[in-house]
Amino acid sequence: MSAARAELSGQPVSRVDGRLKVCGQAPYAADFRLPGMVHAVIVQSTIAKGRIRQIESGAALNAPGVLAVLTHKNAIRLSAAARQASPPESRVLSLLQDDLVSYNGQPVAVVVADTLEHARHAARLLVLAYEPASARLDFALARQYARDAGSILGQPSHTRRGDLDAAMAGAAQRLSLTYTTPVEHHNPLEPHASIASWDGDKLTLYDATQGVSGARKAVAGIFSIAPEKVTVICPFVGGGFGCKGSSWSHVSLAAMAARKIGRPVKLVLDRTQMFGPVGNRPRTEQTLRLGAAADGALTALAHDVISETSTIEDWTEPSALVTRMLYASQTQATSHRLVSLNIATPTFTRAPGEASGTFALECALDEMAYKLDLDPLELRLRNYAERDPGDGKPFSSKSLRECYRLGAEHFGWTRRSRQPASMRDGRWQIGMGMATATYPTRRSPAQAQVRVSADGMALVRCGTQDLGTGTYTVMTQVAADALGLPLDRVRFELGDSRMPAAPVSGGSQTVASVAPAVLAAALKVRARLIDMAITDARSPLYQKEAAALTIVDGMICERGQNAGGDAIAALIGRHRGQPIEAEAMAMAGDEKKQFSMHAFGAVFVEAWVDAELGTVRVPRIVAAYGVGNLLNAKTGRSQLMGGIVWGIGMALSEETVRDVRNGRHVNGNLAEYHVPVNADIGHIEVLVVPESDPHVNPLGAKGIGEIGITGVAGAIGNAVYHATGRRIRDLPITLDKLV
Ligand code: MOS
Repeated sequence: MSAARAELSGQPVSRVDGRLKVCGQAPYAADFRLPGMVHAVIVQSTIAKGRIRQIESGAALNAPGVLAVLTHKNAIRLSAAARQASPPESRVLSLLQDDLVSYNGQPVAVVVADTLEHARHAARLLVLAYEPASARLDFALARQYARDAGSILGQPSHTRRGDLDAAMAGAAQRLSLTYTTPVEHHNPLEPHASIASWDGDKLTLYDATQGVSGARKAVAGIFSIAPEKVTVICPFVGGGFGCKGSSWSHVSLAAMAARKIGRPVKLVLDRTQMFGPVGNRPRTEQTLRLGAAADGALTALAHDVISETSTIEDWTEPSALVTRMLYASQTQATSHRLVSLNIATPTFTRAPGEASGTFALECALDEMAYKLDLDPLELRLRNYAERDPGDGKPFSSKSLRECYRLGAEHFGWTRRSRQPASMRDGRWQIGMGMATATYPTRRSPAQAQVRVSADGMALVRCGTQDLGTGTYTVMTQVAADALGLPLDRVRFELGDSRMPAAPVSGGSQTVASVAPAVLAAALKVRARLIDMAITDARSPLYQKEAAALTIVDGMICERGQNAGGDAIAALIGRHRGQPIEAEAMAMAGDEKKQFSMHAFGAVFVEAWVDAELGTVRVPRIVAAYGVGNLLNAKTGRSQLMGGIVWGIGMALSEETVRDVRNGRHVNGNLAEYHVPVNADIGHIEVLVVPESDPHVNPLGAKGIGEIGITGVAGAIGNAVYHATGRRIRDLPITLDKLV
């Protein structure tokens, strides 16, 4: 490679952990094997509310290989921490502390045996008798009791700006529309899994988690031990999407079982249990009120949300937050209310709030566009927010206009006829729809450590996570660029709570939080190496100006010169071979006080609807995003595309059906809960517009984990309307709603 080598950042670098993964050598939580390890399975309640009258465990205890049966009668008594919630890490859990049942699927016993098969067999031999009570399960009936959600993610649940009622009354066109979204489950390929092992009062957990530090804190709180006594290890995650952002009951149940029998215990949820008490996107009912002047300018915009939660913890799907910042409107009101049902507590699900909220808001905009006889894209441009309409701050960067322009051009939006149900190919009705995508740009404090050794290799460590998204790869790129090393001379380690701390990999914040820490630590090491060279009489760079030097492929040299350099390995070798090491902590300043920070995008969809059968196909999606500096063009586009694919599922098939009689999920498996498969996916074109944002973080990278799903369901709903003239306001848009 030449001294003029391009930076690695931004390049479509293939996953540095790709080979390990395809060779089956990347250990996921359930892959670890500890000496003496045994297996646990969770037994779940079959009623939604009541008391456990009796648990007959004699037959189970006598079954082959069984080591213990944990129930509320013999389980360890835990601290009050298990009853407190501060999401994401700590939640109100179900840890066998009493005989109360408050949702169907609640863990009521844990069976431990020498093999998984023995544990599963014995679990079937448990006999439970309940005293059922009347459960509240019907959202439609309970919604009249909806109450204020309180504060959501540090923001008020209700906002009001201007006189909305007067603006609605005076509007040239007005609409009031209600949209609903169902329960959806995350369904990562890797299920939740924990291996717990005690050594005295020290606990080691191999856990499938989006946050090793958060898991450590949560579990330490539950067992009333110092966080330093808990180690959480998680080198690989097979998808999180929010469900692994919290430590749910199974993690502590594994630890309780391990403590009880004095051996390491492995507890893996099966696919059906993934539809259990490990979080989900809750059902929402969203009412949009829009008023517009004849020219399309919004004069009133209101978004009122009711979502469901459990009876043990309040968790709100913040669907109206997006309405506070997306479009300029003279007046605005938003609200979030909650309905408590006898169900498991919902949680963060990819773009919590924005995914469900943009479905309602973007469909409502589309409906208003028809009412005004305006092109839907033109309506959005006429209400383009130059500043955040919620807090009045300027955006740190916003390339939405360019996303609209580029997306429309690549999609061929001008070929769309204005009239609904006007395009047809045989039995297929063809429609084109669009929507805006957006997600907040977040960042949390993070630390990293960089060490360059005498062999010229760099080891970078940070207690962050790679959910399958590319953290290993992107951080390796960032460190290699900063140190002037080739990719294969940098090794990045993560997923261990003993490493320098990083935040939960949620809220699309991993790169924005961790990369600045890696960069800062690497730059410290780089500066020390250069300083060593210019103060070392044996170095060819002795007494040169530090500012005139750079490092290229492990060689410290004068900028623009290929010869006369000093190899890092040789330099360290001359200094007794001691590794050069530095740590750094990186965090945001007060940029958030000055700027509103969000990523934006535009999604264009072509949908085909079978006029006789009502089946919907999506052969083509073009989406353009402004996400700051995209650090890896390959893993980044892949992640955006993955979000779009889930958006297709959200629009057309995903719904967890709950039986209102008993609170059971009747399609809690991948045969009947339909996620999109290859045959459901047509051509997806992901475009990323150049965007430089000096305010979000030193790398200018906005998060990309969640924006991909936003806007997609809205754009598909709008395309289906354009194809058929039928407006479906209730997700998913299944054929029964169209025929
Ligand atoms: Mo994401 S739903 O914040 O893991």
